[in-house]
Amino acid sequence: MNIIITKNYDQMSSEAYNIVKELLIKKNNAVLGLATGSTPKGLYKNMIDDYKKGAVSYKNVCTYNLDEYVGLGKGDKQSYREFMRAYLFNHIDIDLNNTHLPSGKGDLQKACDDYNKKLEAEKIDIQILGIGANGHIAFNEPGTSFDSVTHIVNLTPKTIRDNARFFDKLSDVPTQAITMGIANIMKAKKIVLMASGENKANAVYNAIKGEITTSCPASILRTHSDVTYILDEQAASKLKLGESK
Ligand code: GLP
Repeated sequence: MNIIITKNYDQMSSEAYNIVKELLIKKNNAVLGLATGSTPKGLYKNMIDDYKKGAVSYKNVCTYNLDEYVGLGKGDKQSYREFMRAYLFNHIDIDLNNTHLPSGKGDLQKACDDYNKKLEAEKIDIQILGIGANGHIAFNEPGTSFDSVTHIVNLTPKTIRDNARFFDKLSDVPTQAITMGIANIMKAKKIVLMASGENKANAVYNAIKGEITTSCPASILRTHSDVTYILDEQAASKLKLGESK
């Protein structure tokens, strides 16, 4: 397990980009596992800026996102599909046909099964993760089995409140989502978890120092053979010093 502690959010984002760039240079048909939320926005900005400089291309890159809200999808501003277009896909040369998210509309069980089939057929090179303030990864809330694959989830009141900032009002936040399961995430060759800000410090502490328990879904990542945590000082504030790499 690697832990990189950075001064701030911007440095966290560029450290994460260094890892992604190394892969893109080595493998032009890389498979990226992507996340939404505030945390990866800076990474995506680095990806766009470097693309615009001509340093990298996404022509043959394929992406799989972690999750999608139930009831939202293409054309819905708050859907994760549109988030990805706004913050990344619209600004790079990726083929949208190579960008995958679970479908939050229509037959939801079929959407889960279809997404699982796709994930079984692929090997994600780098999975980017944020972390919820309650230790969730993707939308795998505390209590989710470590063996879980793509499934429908009821969001906890805390997650609904935390994500309300992306919506006009609290009651607009969907109460369910479709998420990659923890087993899907653990299949990635490499995992990069980013965290920024003091409100993540407890979750980060539990993930890295606490028990490995479904009460903190991110704690299972420690058993992965290639996981890197990139934390800004505030997110790392509950860890003892001397562990940074
Ligand atoms: C959501 C997403 C997660 C994300 C988490 C943290 O619940 N489903 O993938 O990691 O929020 O979000 P943020 O980065 O905005 O703090």
